Amino acid sequence: MLAASVVSFDSADPLTGLRVGDVPRPSPSGDWVEVRVKAAALNRHDVFSLQGVGLKTDELPRILGCDAAGVDGEGNEVVVHAVIGNADAGRGDAVNDPRRSLLSERYDGTFAESVLVPSANVLPKPVELSFEEAACLPTSWLTAYRMVFTNSGARPGDTVLIQGAGGGVSTAAIVLARAAGLRVWVTSRSAERRARALELGAHEAFEPGSRLPQRVDAVLESVGQATWAHSLRAVRPGGVIVVCGATTGDAPPAELARVFYQQLRVVGSTMGSRQELLELLNFCALTGIRPVIDRVLPLTEARDGIEAMLSGEVFGKVVFTL
Ligand SMILES: NC(=O)c1ccc[n+]([C@@H]2O[C@H](COP(=O)([O-])OP(=O)(O)OC[C@H]3O[C@@H](n4cnc5c(N)ncnc54)[C@H](OP(=O)(O)O)[C@@H]3O)[C@@H](O)[C@H]2O)c1
Repeated sequence: MLAASVVSFDSADPLTGLRVGDVPRPSPSGDWVEVRVKAAALNRHDVFSLQGVGLKTDELPRILGCDAAGVDGEGNEVVVHAVIGNADAGRGDAVNDPRRSLLSERYDGTFAESVLVPSANVLPKPVELSFEEAACLPTSWLTAYRMVFTNSGARPGDTVLIQGAGGGVSTAAIVLARAAGLRVWVTSRSAERRARALELGAHEAFEPGSRLPQRVDAVLESVGQATWAHSLRAVRPGGVIVVCGATTGDAPPAELARVFYQQLRVVGSTMGSRQELLELLNFCALTGIRPVIDRVLPLTEARDGIEAMLSGEVFGKVVFTL
């Protein structure tokens, strides 16, 4: 079957280790089932895998991809929950299982004609969503959903700042936060992406590091080192910074004095539970909200999609079809 895999690591030039070609088709066993993939979305996680983050050489080759929508063995249209873990071991949430992994880490991922997952990781796809739209939801959108609705504590009328408006997580957070009745402020390096964020529902868009009209109730942070100092200064005393990523590096000064003196809460957030993915799917079906898709490419052109993400020109999601 056709698949896009990581075969070697290169932190400076991640595309060196990408191979798009034929691999053996897997067969399910035990409680695992096969999903024939129709669409799979690209995440920054795939770039990190090509750079060797979270994978070891003896685990190669590994099929990339966390997100998929497709068809199960009975012909049902489904969405795949990418967190492979034991909910009991995580006190009701597989994300908190100390041994949990994401598809494409310990097990082969979704950039292939077929992916194997535990049967509990297969959810019905709402008819209202296309395969391409549904494929965007299990990673960036689920992460943004947990950040906005579970971990930010924001209430309708509150103000949130979303750092780095153009990314997969950030565009999802803009749409979800706006739909939740929050005042949505964003930063972006690019004037064009600031304008697109306003079209998408942000109330105001600022250059990175700008002085804001007032301090915000919550910051949704995925950029890391480049925006951390600004996030610490943007949030009101007693407010919260919800962090799901550190694309630009994770070693800025923690500024602990500011954290305790302003009584800030710094809350880590990763993916979401099966239940949260069900809620997100319903939320999209009910409200008419749809993922922001920058481009759809056949999987044979995976290299072009990853190149676009690396060049920073993408606004929203890149989706591969099979
Ligand atoms: N914890 C989890 O479960 C989880 C889930 C999903 C993602 N993540 C993490 O969240 C981060 C974002 O993921 P994503 O898929 O949304 O990535 P992405 O689509 O590539 O977005 C990257 C974002 O970083 C911003 N950015 C600002 N300064 C940057 C710089 N100097 N270099 C590169 N980007 C810069 C960009 O905003 P502008 O271009 O608009 O400035 C863009 O919004 C990644 O670190 C990813 O690993 C974590």
